[in-house]
Amino acid sequence: MFVVLEGPDASGKSTQLKLLDEALRQKRIAPLITREPGGTELGAELRELLLSPSRKMRPLTELLLMVADRHEHVEEVIRPSLDAGRWVICSRYVLSSVAYQGIARGLGAQIAMQLNDAATGGLAADYTFLLDLPPELAYERTGQRDRFEGEGLDFYAKVRSAYLELLGSRPGAYVIDATLPPEEVCRSILARLPVP
Ligand code: TYD
Repeated sequence: MFVVLEGPDASGKSTQLKLLDEALRQKRIAPLITREPGGTELGAELRELLLSPSRKMRPLTELLLMVADRHEHVEEVIRPSLDAGRWVICSRYVLSSVAYQGIARGLGAQIAMQLNDAATGGLAADYTFLLDLPPELAYERTGQRDRFEGEGLDFYAKVRSAYLELLGSRPGAYVIDATLPPEEVCRSILARLPVP
């Protein structure tokens, strides 16, 4: 199973990765936990470039770097793990690029989808969970520490509506209320996964 968590900064993705890891291990499933950007050695360097607050870059450059990170991640980490029969739980995947670079940065969803198709060879998540937060709350909770967190409330609002639109009727995609306590968020994710 390939499970992806999406959502704005400060929506609790890292906490959920940890809780899901623990819960699945109790059910004798040892998932591979990973994240984007930065899930490979090259990806860690790309992540630094992408997040550095002092680094200026054009939106298309940002998209190309995100997609480069994803290609390395899919080929080196995600696909080999899935092929070996392992569950993969990943913080952020294709929808992040479509929501942030395609829609919020205004490049267009179509070019973001096309480049992502090339980068992933069409590998799609089996389950996607959007940890949904009102933009005001996400904005308030983040520390303005990196290039993305430093964006204004308006950017957070665009990302949120993009996510909700993209999730729409996508099979295997669920919106989860991220204002609930972490244990409850984890329970509602688990309830939708094919675990005993
Ligand atoms: P992440 O480490 O997930 O930040 P957080 O844990 O705070 O949510 O991601 C860092 C930033 O990268 C985040 O603000 C969103 C951005 N991002 C994109 O814009 N496009 C992408 O394709 C990905 C994977 C991340």
